[in-house]
Amino acid sequence: MMTIENVTSLVRPNIVSLKPYSSARGEFLGDNKILLDANENPFEMWDMENINRYPDPLQMDVKQRIASIKGIKAEEIFIGNGSDEAVDLIMRCFCEPAIDRIAIFEPTYGMYSVCATVNNIGVEKFLLKDDFGIDADDFLSKVSNSVKVAFICNPNNPTGNIQRIDVIEKILSQFNGLVVVDEAYIDFCSDESVVKLINKYPNLIVIQTFSKAWGLAGARIGLAIANYQVISFLNKIKFPYNVGVPSLQLLRNALKNKSVPRKFIQQIVSEREKLKEKLMQLPFILKVYPSQTNFLLAKTKDAKRIHSYLLENNIVVRNRSHEPLCSNCIRITVGTPAENQILIETLKKLNL
Ligand SMILES: Cc1ncc(COP(=O)(O)O)c(C=O)c1O
Repeated sequence: MMTIENVTSLVRPNIVSLKPYSSARGEFLGDNKILLDANENPFEMWDMENINRYPDPLQMDVKQRIASIKGIKAEEIFIGNGSDEAVDLIMRCFCEPAIDRIAIFEPTYGMYSVCATVNNIGVEKFLLKDDFGIDADDFLSKVSNSVKVAFICNPNNPTGNIQRIDVIEKILSQFNGLVVVDEAYIDFCSDESVVKLINKYPNLIVIQTFSKAWGLAGARIGLAIANYQVISFLNKIKFPYNVGVPSLQLLRNALKNKSVPRKFIQQIVSEREKLKEKLMQLPFILKVYPSQTNFLLAKTKDAKRIHSYLLENNIVVRNRSHEPLCSNCIRITVGTPAENQILIETLKKLNL
């Protein structure tokens, strides 16, 4: 089991010694001030309060609100320009380019590999089992010393399943590196978040996003939640004003209206199950995998054909055939009831 000292010893030396950019707005927080420090335009020319000003670099008021909702401390939260920013910063914080590596469990969300490759960080790939579960023993026995961060997507994209908590905890307690649990789809799922485990496991970083259940994909807001020392390194290396004023304002409003996402989550989950039923009645759909997310993975007779047929009919789904364990699979995001109905009606007309 790692201690916080073990974890911080994994931070790249150049990041440890880095003197971060000191932003003008970070130096003075308070109200009623004359702000002549940040070379902003002093006039509010557009129809939005404070849009002429840089945002609070550490987004403290929003973090306090999120912290009270989640029962954690504001210092345990990093807010990023989408959760993709957190993925990228975690790699840049802990992985030495051309030396260190990350581990992923395939098939999974593609950005882990893309981000690693952009940063010249190697990717050690472990295959999920046939039921899309992680084989923790296989991982723990084979993972090399150069792997600093393991990414567990839970629920997993594109397979839609959840990993067993004892499997996640086994990896957290026995792997000598960081474990990122990406909970982008956690709000659609019956299992609880592992956020409650951040005090037990200092090597745990939980990623969440406002892009899915919260309906704010266009605002680009994601979270990393971990021990405050880990979070302080992410804050040290992020761009100073990484989340814009309009996005933060949208987030503040959303956090005041928590019942809204709750209502839509229920609707999406019930639509998902209806869509699954209807898909399974189509002769060319061989299997629809159980999903704890807002999408369905379906094994088909010919994914390429179905994908292009739907495109010709103005419906975009994803062909996941090139992913391991996903031959002839398409991934369908649950749409509105009307969209789902058009999808099914269109598919019914396909002779395959
Ligand atoms: C598993 C997973 N993590 C992260 C993301 C990215 O989310 P964000 O919009 O917060 O960058 C996605 C987006 O599809 C995802 O599927």
